[in-house]
Amino acid sequence: MKFNTKTIHGGQHNIDPAYGAVMPPIYQTSTYSQTSPGAHKGFEYSRSANPTRTALENSLASIENGKFGLAFGSGLAAIDAVLKLLKPGDEVISTNDLYGGSYRLFTSIFEDLGIKFHFVGMENTKAVEAKINSNTKLIWAETPTNPMMNVIDIEALAKLSKKHNLLLAVDNTFATAYLQQPLNLGADLVMHSATKYLGGHSDVVMGSLVVKDKALADKLYFIQNASGAIAGPMDSFLVLRGIKTLHLRMQRHSENGRAVAEYLNTHPKVEKVYWPGLENHPNHAIAKKQMKDFGGMVSFTTKGNNYEDAIKFTEKVKVFTLAESLGGVESLAGHPASMTHASIPKEEREKTGVVDSLIRLSVGIEDETDLIEDLKQALG
Ligand SMILES: Cc1ncc(COP(=O)(O)O)c(C=O)c1O
Repeated sequence: MKFNTKTIHGGQHNIDPAYGAVMPPIYQTSTYSQTSPGAHKGFEYSRSANPTRTALENSLASIENGKFGLAFGSGLAAIDAVLKLLKPGDEVISTNDLYGGSYRLFTSIFEDLGIKFHFVGMENTKAVEAKINSNTKLIWAETPTNPMMNVIDIEALAKLSKKHNLLLAVDNTFATAYLQQPLNLGADLVMHSATKYLGGHSDVVMGSLVVKDKALADKLYFIQNASGAIAGPMDSFLVLRGIKTLHLRMQRHSENGRAVAEYLNTHPKVEKVYWPGLENHPNHAIAKKQMKDFGGMVSFTTKGNNYEDAIKFTEKVKVFTLAESLGGVESLAGHPASMTHASIPKEEREKTGVVDSLIRLSVGIEDETDLIEDLKQALG
């Protein structure tokens, strides 16, 4: 089955044996009747499994070309489940530019539980290898990174992780399975904040994991059930519906992303544009190799690196909405230093490029001319 068919039909068999509904019903139930203790129709309690969530988990596995999908109450809950595979004394190598909430989870929760984290620029595979020691268990990659849009060579990292017998996890939130399929490139695990492009309509918070290996899936399923941070049936329905148009939306996000990046790239007040589709992007070659297109996430800085100018821009936009999050049909603008990445100390974030004037745009699927007009007036 091709990707554009998988988004609609992938993993969807025998959806509604009761009435033949084309969409999986929202099974808004916590429990299921049994005819005798342990005799049931495959579902006994909705923390362990729920038919609407199962339909979504099968769809997730299908679009990522994996075998097992798991849906969680948020992206961070999904990351939390992965980290629970580790034991005190284990070490993790992570991208140095990553979502601020992931950084907070690593350094404020799991570091206290005895896990050690190394943050490195993963565009350089040698820098990753230099941090590997006998305690290293997991490589955590985010690509493109949030918000600097660095692109990491997944295939090179997969070779490295296999050589050292490590687990390679890729946060695929920005690219989605439409643009990039980490499992095909050798990663062991792919993670999503499904809140973003998978849901696609800014109306749900959810996370997901997809793996190929049964033993790894079993461990993660155990954690999902034992810790209980599951996705609810209504949210599962919404993300399943979102995935059905993922291929169409990502195509338009990428087209509009290009238009916005190219416009900003020629604007006299703009210092630098970060979008992997631009030929002057330092990782353009690897982006071209591992991604189908370059997506709708665009970051930029303004000349003079002035905090107040950035704030003024965010207050002036009209079609773009100033808001946290990304990946919905509507265009959003954010100021990472004071919003999504405020939990990262200033010295740390500035090392990776998250300076005061940095603006991150989630370019939506509106008409491109309205988006450019809006940027023009706000920058003016
Ligand atoms: C790249 C990335 N990973 C993970 C997360 C966390 O996901 P959630 O907000 O669904 O918990 C986010 C949220 O913005 C993100 O952008």
